[in-house]
Amino acid sequence: MTGDELRALFLEFFEGKGHKIIPGSSLIPQDDPTLLLTSAGMVQIKPYFLGELEPPSRRLASCQKCFRTTDIERVGDTSHLTFFEMLGNFSVGDYFKKETIAWAWEFITQHLGMPEDRLWASIFLDDDDAFNYWLDTGMPADKILRFGEEDNFWGPAGDSGPCGPDSEIFYDLGEEVGCGKPSCAPNCGCDRFVEIGTLVFMQFNQDKNGNRTPLPKPSIDTGMGIERNAAVVQGKTSVYETDLFVPLLDCVSRLSGKKYGTDNEIDSAMRVVTEHSRGITFLIGDGVMPSNEGRGYVLRRLLRRAALFGRRLGLDRPFLKEIAEITIRQMEHVYPELKQRQDFILNIIEMEETRFGETLNSGLELIENIMATPSIKSTKIIPGEDVFRLYDTYGFPVELTSEIGASRGFTVDLEGFDREMDKQRQRAKAVQKFGSAGMVKNGVNNIVDIMTTPFVGYSGTKQRTEILSMLVNGDSVRSIAQGQEAGIILAETPFYGEMGGR
Ligand code: GLY
Repeated sequence: MTGDELRALFLEFFEGKGHKIIPGSSLIPQDDPTLLLTSAGMVQIKPYFLGELEPPSRRLASCQKCFRTTDIERVGDTSHLTFFEMLGNFSVGDYFKKETIAWAWEFITQHLGMPEDRLWASIFLDDDDAFNYWLDTGMPADKILRFGEEDNFWGPAGDSGPCGPDSEIFYDLGEEVGCGKPSCAPNCGCDRFVEIGTLVFMQFNQDKNGNRTPLPKPSIDTGMGIERNAAVVQGKTSVYETDLFVPLLDCVSRLSGKKYGTDNEIDSAMRVVTEHSRGITFLIGDGVMPSNEGRGYVLRRLLRRAALFGRRLGLDRPFLKEIAEITIRQMEHVYPELKQRQDFILNIIEMEETRFGETLNSGLELIENIMATPSIKSTKIIPGEDVFRLYDTYGFPVELTSEIGASRGFTVDLEGFDREMDKQRQRAKAVQKFGSAGMVKNGVNNIVDIMTTPFVGYSGTKQRTEILSMLVNGDSVRSIAQGQEAGIILAETPFYGEMGGR
């Protein structure tokens, strides 16, 4: 069964159970300040659960593009993804636990054909209803495990919103895949038991302080990641071996000349490059642009991590665009926005990757030198100033420096980094105060009291005028020497301020 077939089968199955199929929404959540990116199918359902909007039907189902930032550093293993597709069925105050568990079981065993004896369930500590409904499916009592809030309470997505106890479904890949401990079971932490679905019994609205109040009506939110389920039905132990990833992995293999499946480190780098290339294609496709904050920073971090791991495969020229092209070709029939915005997506990737590539080698060299400095080598702490320099001058996201450091046993001084960031913010503020006359390269250290420079360029492009102030490295100076780089503030200027509202 292909990933495409699995997606279609799920939606058909729930349509047959009276659900209205709704299109997935953008990765940029609409009117939802609690979330950076859409992280679950329930994101667009939230206003219905909260009783703020009337749903088009009390039973809904969708396939939703999702992005989770929590696992970025785990990407490279066989199952963690940043971008994935989530299949979900939702009840807005309609059916509850009984139907949800029965239908999930029916779909997984009869339509996906997963053998019953491979399946396990987990439930919230005292949820005896869920326990009994699982027993009704035929699942033996000793395969229904109880866990606390950490494992079996879902949500809110973001800092507040709908949440509730949940039940998770696990597939046992077999003893040979796991840690081998006699105690190995779902939530063990090894690769043996894959979590293939979550059934959330939505009951509360949680506020920012953690206070919970009941939702207007108990509701249902479920999530099944296509990739993991495709791996199970295709008899694979890794999502990268499914038809959803193989063409992308093949592309990385072709570009790098490396074969997948021969060396652990190479395999892991290939997975990072593959996964991140797919993620950035979808992020840009939904309008996220690289930047130093918010979702733009997530995109930038992902793209730079992909470029860095590409280096480990010997890819030292921009290459991400090629993997993005395969992603678009492979997914455009489900997500037509990718094709519509293809040129834009590819251009942004190329520009951003080229820019980072220009400083990547120097940054990597610098980080090596830093780690080789005797005082740093002995403490194994990369100082905040250096982490900041790598960030500010070489475009290394702090997480990337951390990760490179960690791979060699170093930690980074995050507090020191934050202090440097604060100083930079102060400098930026100073430039703002300085007004539109602030033609300064490295920020202004002493604020010079100068008003906006009148623009005289409408009447001519030459002007004889007066120098009001001179700046060297952001400091106001009384004289400048030949060859020194400086900024000058003029009484009037024919130069048009290209950017900045005033
Ligand atoms: N909201 C259910 C899930 O994310 O799995």
